Amino acid sequence: MKPNLKVKIGKLELKNPIMVASGTFGYGEEFHKNFYDISKLGAVVTKGISLKPRLGNKTPRVAETASGMLNSIGLQNVGLRAFITEKLPFLQRVHATTIVNILGEKIEDYVELAQTLDEEPGVHAIELNISCPNVKAGGVQFGTDPKLAAKVTSSVKKKIKKPLIVKLSPNYHDMPLMAKHVVDAGADALSIMNTITGMAIDAEKRRPVLANVFGGLSGPAIKPIALRMVCQVYMASKKQRPIVGIGGIMNITDVVEFLLAGSSAVQIGTANFINPTIAADLVDQLEQYMIDHDIADIKELTGGLIV
Ligand SMILES: Cc1cc2nc3c(=O)[nH]c(=O)nc-3n(C[C@H](O)[C@H](O)[C@H](O)COP(=O)(O)O)c2cc1C
Repeated sequence: MKPNLKVKIGKLELKNPIMVASGTFGYGEEFHKNFYDISKLGAVVTKGISLKPRLGNKTPRVAETASGMLNSIGLQNVGLRAFITEKLPFLQRVHATTIVNILGEKIEDYVELAQTLDEEPGVHAIELNISCPNVKAGGVQFGTDPKLAAKVTSSVKKKIKKPLIVKLSPNYHDMPLMAKHVVDAGADALSIMNTITGMAIDAEKRRPVLANVFGGLSGPAIKPIALRMVCQVYMASKKQRPIVGIGGIMNITDVVEFLLAGSSAVQIGTANFINPTIAADLVDQLEQYMIDHDIADIKELTGGLIV
C-alpha cells in the first residue's frame, strides 16, 4: 500500500513533508523550467519578500567553507508589488503550494506584508523571517529577543487567516524559551532554523572574504546544531506545534534524522545549489524509505527518537 506522506501545518495540508528553504530556490521558476515539476514538493518557500525591492549587499557575498557556505546576500528581493504581479502568478499556474517568507525592519512592515499576502489566493501560508534587524529597537534582531519575537508574531497573527510559520534564529541561545514565546503568541508552526552568523578570512590578503565581513553559515556544518535545536524544542514544548526542520539536509538519512528529532516537515536549502533536483528526489526517496521500513504514515516518524 502507498504510505501516507501528508502533513498538516496549521490548517494547510501538504502532500508531503519536503519543502525548499527560502533564498535557495528563488521564486521557483528556474527550477520548474529546467529541472522538475515543482508542484511535486510539499511546498516552495519563496525568497524573503520585503515591502520595497532590495538590491542586497555588495559582492563577494557567498563563500564556500568546510562542509558549508557563508552568504551575506542582504535579503535581495523584488519587493511585495513585483512579487504579486510577476512571480506569484507563475507559482499559481503550476499549482505549487507556496509559502511566502517575509521580512521587515519594523513590526508594521511585517503586518502590512502579511495582510496583503493573506488576500492572495496563490499564497498558502506565511513564514516570518525574524532574523532581521529591528530598526526601531536600534538594530537588535527580532529573532534574538523573545519578547520582540512574540510581539511581531501576535501582531501578524491577529491580521491573517492563513497559517503562520515563524522561522527561528539560532543566534539566540535558548531555543525552547524562544519557541514558547512565539507559540504562545499564536504561531501555527515553527521553522528551525535559519543560518548561524560566521565569517571567512583570506589570510594572504588579510581581509574578510565577504564584502559584508560576516554572513550566515549553512550546509552540513550546521546540521548537528539544527538537530539539537529541533529536538530540544520538541521535547520541551507543552503546546506542540509542527516543527519544520532545516539545516544541512543533504540526503534521505538527514531527512529521517530531522523527523525523528521532532520535525513534522523539513526544508532543503544549500543542497539545491549542489544538486538542483535533490528536493524532488527526496520526495521519492522518502516514500521508498517508508515502504522499505514498513511505515504507513509519516507521522510515525515525527519525534520517534528513542532516548
Ligand atoms: C543564499 C541563501 C539565501 C538565504 N535567504 C534567506 C531568506 O531570504 N530568508 C530566510 O528566512 N532564510 C534564508 N536563508 C536561510 C535558509 O532558508 C536556511 O534556513 C539555511 O540555509 C539553513 O538550511 P541549509 O543548511 O539546508 O541551507 C538563505 C540561505 C542561503 C544559503
